[in-house]
Amino acid sequence: MCGIVGYTGTKQAYPIIIKGLKRLEYRGYDSTGVALLNSGLKVFKKKGKVAELEETLVGEDLHGFAGIGHTRWATHGEPNDQNAHPHQSSSGKLAMIHNGIIENYASLKKELISKGYNFTSDTDSEVLLNFIEEIKTKNNCDLEEAIRIALKRVVGAYVILLIDEDNPGTIIAARKGSPLVIGIGKNEHFLGSDASPMLEYTKEVVYVNDYELAIVKPNELILKNLGNEILTPFVQKLDIELAAIEKGGFDYFMLKEIYEQPTTIFDCLRGRLDVENGTIQMAGVQDNLDKLINANRIIILACGTSWHAGLIAEYIFEELCRTSVEVEYASEFRYRNPIIIPGDVIIAISQSGETADTLVAIENAKEKGAFIFGIVNVVGSSIARTSHAGAYTHAGSEIGVASTKAFTAQLAVLTMVALKIAKEKNTISNERYRSCLNELNDVPVKVSKILESNDLIKSIAEKYKNFTNFLYLGRGYNFPIALEGALKLKEISYIHASGYPAAEMKHGPIALVDDSLPVVFIATKDSNIEKTISNMQEIKARKGKIISIITENDESAISVSNELIAVPAADEIVAPMLNVIPLQLLAYYIGIAKGCDVDKPRNLAKSVTVE
Ligand code: G6P
Repeated sequence: MCGIVGYTGTKQAYPIIIKGLKRLEYRGYDSTGVALLNSGLKVFKKKGKVAELEETLVGEDLHGFAGIGHTRWATHGEPNDQNAHPHQSSSGKLAMIHNGIIENYASLKKELISKGYNFTSDTDSEVLLNFIEEIKTKNNCDLEEAIRIALKRVVGAYVILLIDEDNPGTIIAARKGSPLVIGIGKNEHFLGSDASPMLEYTKEVVYVNDYELAIVKPNELILKNLGNEILTPFVQKLDIELAAIEKGGFDYFMLKEIYEQPTTIFDCLRGRLDVENGTIQMAGVQDNLDKLINANRIIILACGTSWHAGLIAEYIFEELCRTSVEVEYASEFRYRNPIIIPGDVIIAISQSGETADTLVAIENAKEKGAFIFGIVNVVGSSIARTSHAGAYTHAGSEIGVASTKAFTAQLAVLTMVALKIAKEKNTISNERYRSCLNELNDVPVKVSKILESNDLIKSIAEKYKNFTNFLYLGRGYNFPIALEGALKLKEISYIHASGYPAAEMKHGPIALVDDSLPVVFIATKDSNIEKTISNMQEIKARKGKIISIITENDESAISVSNELIAVPAADEIVAPMLNVIPLQLLAYYIGIAKGCDVDKPRNLAKSVTVE
């Protein structure tokens, strides 16, 4: 979490840094700060979002050809002006921004206090900065050497960017566990947590790896490892366009991304799904068919919304491929001593490709001999690079903090992977296989159709916005969709919501049901629909208010529902991609009706790079 930006070159650094920080606010927005090298070092920082800092800086001298900027998601120390980055070293000559956590900061701080250092913040970051300064002074070495020595003693994760008043024009950066991209321009370099701050200036980037250090000047980029050996930067071409990270006429990125789903799902299927010839082309699967077909067990690792995609995949893989599947929260898996046996396949699912828990969990499983297949959205991200093979979701940049289009693209990829394995394994009949390909192919058009219910969903949101608790229920493939619907509502509108398997509702949540509890049922026509209708009756008998997602022209849920949202009929393996759309819109419109900043929900961050 936290967004970092840096610039050194021939342009004014401040506007580039501020614009870059706005693009990185999805990573955290508790406080903002900028440090500029003009004649001397200037640091401006403040609690609040980037726009708030910008307002307070009107009239200030913001000149400078090099600088660094930070948007924070607080870990150590509450969000306030002092804890905002950049931090300045005790001498006032160095400024540093940090994304990550220094786990042994307490012992380093004690050591520094005993040497007379004072601290102005509660952060682990200020400790690291002064530790670097102490080494620089004591060893009488340059900043680069001091950073290298300091990092050998640091436990934790970091991307750090440092500037030095005595060395204007140079930014020194280092990474372990948090992302860092360097953009290469003409007589200028850009640094960022991702490539979005540099998109309009360059398409050439270097993804810095763990334990690497970059010395960045306007005309020079030197990459080294912590052993001081020079490395050759691997320059890659970006294929993201600026339009992809702009709102394109929508009020919020979240709504834009919900509306993009017919296109993103289509893009995800394009070039892979060939209905006419009955094939699915996925190089990552094709090249590793042996491992995937003969997998003992598939273990799916993910967090948040991606974990919900994993739960749906469990149903799909077990049904189509007859492979045993376990779905684990990466954060729990990594701290157990999980049993990995030869033949285990790990599928890691992540939009950002940077979620710390997922990354470490797959690194651990890899060490134990598992084969890692990554399903990731961000090209070149850490999880993509750590996986042995994988498939990108091609959903484009997702900026709204609550995941929408990445989720449906994950489901599209997972369904294709399952179908391909099932076909090769012979666990699916030809007829069912062909029908599933057709069903998948029809998803984008059906999603467009569901989006036509926008106004209806908006009016339902208006009606229910003041309720303080919601229950979401579904069975089978629709149970994870109930979880996802509830998560969306919590994230966006701060209304408490729980998702449950519809039958399990009788073992607890039913005690909550009265006329003040809206219950959202995902009650589309599938093999369990009669059972779901019985559960709806049980809620209705207790005066719960029922909002139902039903299949078009299916009348079975009409009499028990207070509100109805219809979706086109679909096979149950692709239905989750459709059924989640009304729930995304419902959460969005309730959030808007309550005046929430749906793109930047409080306390959340899009890319969780701390444990
Ligand atoms: C955060 C985001 C969620 C996301 C989760 C996992 O909590 O707010 O939208 O689902 O992280 O992120 P990943 O990038 O690994 O899918």
